[in-house]
Amino acid sequence: MTDSLTVRDNRTGAEYEIPITDGTIKAADLGQIKLNDDTPGIATYDPGFVNTASCRSSVTFIDGEKGILEYRGYPIEQLAEKSNFLEVAYLLVHGELPTKEQYDHWVHHITYHTFVHENVKAFMQGFRYDAHPMGMLMASVGALSTFYPEAANISDPDNRQIQIIRMIAKMPTLGAWAFRHAQGKPYVYPDNDLSYAENFMSMLFKMSEVKYDPDPRIAKALDTLFILHADHEQNCSTNAVRSVGSSQVDPYSAVSAGIGALFGPLHGGANEAVLKMLRRIGNKSEIPAFIEGVKNGNERLMGFGHRVYKNYDPRAKIIKKACDDVFEVTGVNPLLEVAQELEKIALEDEYFVKRKLYPNVDFYSGLIYEALEFPPEMFTVLFAIGRTPGWLAQWQELIEDKEQKIARPKQIYTGDRQLTFVPAEERWA
Ligand code: ACO
Repeated sequence: MTDSLTVRDNRTGAEYEIPITDGTIKAADLGQIKLNDDTPGIATYDPGFVNTASCRSSVTFIDGEKGILEYRGYPIEQLAEKSNFLEVAYLLVHGELPTKEQYDHWVHHITYHTFVHENVKAFMQGFRYDAHPMGMLMASVGALSTFYPEAANISDPDNRQIQIIRMIAKMPTLGAWAFRHAQGKPYVYPDNDLSYAENFMSMLFKMSEVKYDPDPRIAKALDTLFILHADHEQNCSTNAVRSVGSSQVDPYSAVSAGIGALFGPLHGGANEAVLKMLRRIGNKSEIPAFIEGVKNGNERLMGFGHRVYKNYDPRAKIIKKACDDVFEVTGVNPLLEVAQELEKIALEDEYFVKRKLYPNVDFYSGLIYEALEFPPEMFTVLFAIGRTPGWLAQWQELIEDKEQKIARPKQIYTGDRQLTFVPAEERWA
């Protein structure tokens, strides 16, 4: 068997042999298929890139049919149980697990870069009292490029490293300050004695106490949630980071574009929709009627189904377990009972079984965030903090990949041609 595709152009009768590599053909190879020398070659049309690989990547592997997610080859279940967010961040960025020395160095640097320039605080304070924290995060990450103009030198690996460390370190500071801003509370400076998640909690919740005393169970749950969100191969926001990064702009500008993509309801916002749905259902007795409505096409069961996973989203299983730890501290969110019963009924129902619809990462995450007293606007901010190492690992891979070019898709032009322009004074006469 030859690894190639024989394509016959029925317009001309010509046949072409197109090589198949790694289960793909090069779209550019189709360019040789032409009606004649004066017409452009065949291109592919793929809105949303549903069947187009845009890069080679060794960061994250997903098998959606089997429900497998691996970072650099390590199963997400093992990382969530036995690792921590900063070690996972190192793994994503560097491609392998750290030695003790590398780990200590990495944690030390991230911890000591959590502070931001005082002027960042000043401009964050200039946002409206009701500014959305995700808008504040996006703007302030983009603005960091003006504080670190050397970040534009993306071809220097050492320079890239320091910007990566800065961004992972400062993201919780900016996210927490955006949260405090909406509450009219003073911004809290980082506490370098605390772990990554504990320091984040301190910046979110500290009031007049001299030192914030985080509950280790909550800190662990937050750390696990960050791990679960750390990367997910070529999703919308990662594609945005790569696309903007392909212009060779600095990483702050590229990541700020990723935050913009994540802000959208089709990407980062589904867990809020789950909460609204659960609240509307209200109690278990209403579930059968709700499920009937979904099956009749009146609405969707939010938090179920995924473009890639046609099995239980492995992240949803881990979050479900994390719920127990959080609710032990905060008390059970009454909506949990509704969610669990809803899941049980849906997983046994022919409609959902046939379409391979299983709980996704968002089905339980909103319940935890709500129990931690985060308003829904903060959900995507938490997602962005977790996703930062993934964006940066993918950005770095893009910069080092000799095959990558500036992202510049083709179009199928559908407008007018060759019109004759009539000046305004004649048209309006
Ligand atoms: N509830 C009811 N039916 C559903 C659902 C759902 N949540 N999801 C898909 N279906 C049905 C569709 O109606 C369709 O049925 P049909 O074949 O009879 O027409 C079939 O399953 C396939 O659905 P598609 O929309 O083609 O699947 P697609 O891969 O395009 O969509 C998506 C995936 C957007 C996630 C979808 O499952 C959905 O809307 N889910 C609810 C929203 C949600 O939870 N989003 C979070 C995703 S995870 C994340 O982004 C981090």
